[in-house]
Amino acid sequence: MKVLITGGAGYIGSHTAVELLESGYDIVIVDDFSNSSPEAIENIKKITNKDFSFYKCDINSKDALSAVFSHEKIEAVIHFAAYKAVGESCRLPIKYYSNNISGTINLLDVMNEYGCKKIVFSSSATVYGEPEENPMTEDFPLHPFNPYGTTKYIIEEILRDLYRADNEWGISILRYFNPIGAHHSGLIGERPNGIPNNIMPYICLVAKKKLEKLSVFGNDYPTRDGTGVRDYIHVVDLAKGHLKALEYIADKGICDSINLGTGCGYSVLELVNAFSRVNNVEVPYVITERRPGDLAEYYADPSKAEKVLGWKAELGIEDMVKSSWKFISNQQF
Ligand code: NAD
Ligand code: WQD
Repeated sequence: MKVLITGGAGYIGSHTAVELLESGYDIVIVDDFSNSSPEAIENIKKITNKDFSFYKCDINSKDALSAVFSHEKIEAVIHFAAYKAVGESCRLPIKYYSNNISGTINLLDVMNEYGCKKIVFSSSATVYGEPEENPMTEDFPLHPFNPYGTTKYIIEEILRDLYRADNEWGISILRYFNPIGAHHSGLIGERPNGIPNNIMPYICLVAKKKLEKLSVFGNDYPTRDGTGVRDYIHVVDLAKGHLKALEYIADKGICDSINLGTGCGYSVLELVNAFSRVNNVEVPYVITERRPGDLAEYYADPSKAEKVLGWKAELGIEDMVKSSWKFISNQQF
């Protein structure tokens, strides 16, 4: 089966590309490198020792996407390409609505034209907004509260409408919790441009002494130790979930939303302590004000993924912090 990966040079896309190639899939990657670099493509080839087609292409260009579909016999798409910085989406909402939503509509249009009706879509736990309780199940109400989250919610609605109109479509909407970690080779991982917003890349740069200390955003939340609790999931487990999702939609019309998380919450301090202990490296931190828009605690109920996909996260917090550090230790700054 030939699978198109949009955004395949990015953090989650590159790990998914590796898992697909290692499981015998043919892949094609498109990426415009707006948040990644050609090195990731080379490293996917190095890890797997396999070749594949790559197109430097913006999914907002219908002509460029059509050219890809006409050259390659694409049978399914895993759609990662999007902007993902929450803070930037509040400052520049149109940039986010335009790239994430228009780009997806373009992609769906071209897929339809070429009779390709299988898509796995990267959604996010952020579509739920503030939960009334934990763990979160897929039938919780959807209340995104920033433009980035709204783009994911709108695309989910578009996909549900598409399936209502034509139930030949096989659509898997995957709601990721907090992906961290990296491939065990240390060759691919998360390397954001500039100062990171997310906690794990920030911790890594502090440990590497590129940043002075971590600001822990608030220790007065109603949680075990007062700091925010999240469901961190190893990116390799997450990538494997995409293969299961592809199998799930391969031979039927369906549109289904599924959480990909571990079901376990860790606090900021638990994560920092695990990182220091496992990697034997110091992570100086200071407690600061809460970050506006942050929630106290949320974690997944991952039981639907186990039931319908036969998928369950296998890697624990130690693997997550170890592999993140291995990747960053290998990077030149
Ligand atoms: P990433 O930024 O590392 O990867 C996205 C890739 O898409 C990048 O390589 C970027 O260059 C590319 N891209 C962006 N716009 C494009 C366009 N118009 N045309 C072609 N390529 C384009 O992000 P990631 O962490 O790998 O996230 C992948 C997907 O998962 C995104 O849709 C993101 O919203 C979603 N997601 C991420 C997280 C997370 O915490 N990382 C959580 C939930 C959901
Ligand atoms: C995790 C915890 C912070 C940085 C974001 C998006 C979400 C999804 C995943 C895409 C929180 C604390 C963080 C720091 C800190 N992305 N923290 N100091 O906010 O849970 O989720 O990424 O879909 O949509 O909102 O992730 O890594 O930013 O924060 O104390 O410097 O770490 O307060 O408790 P978040 P995060």
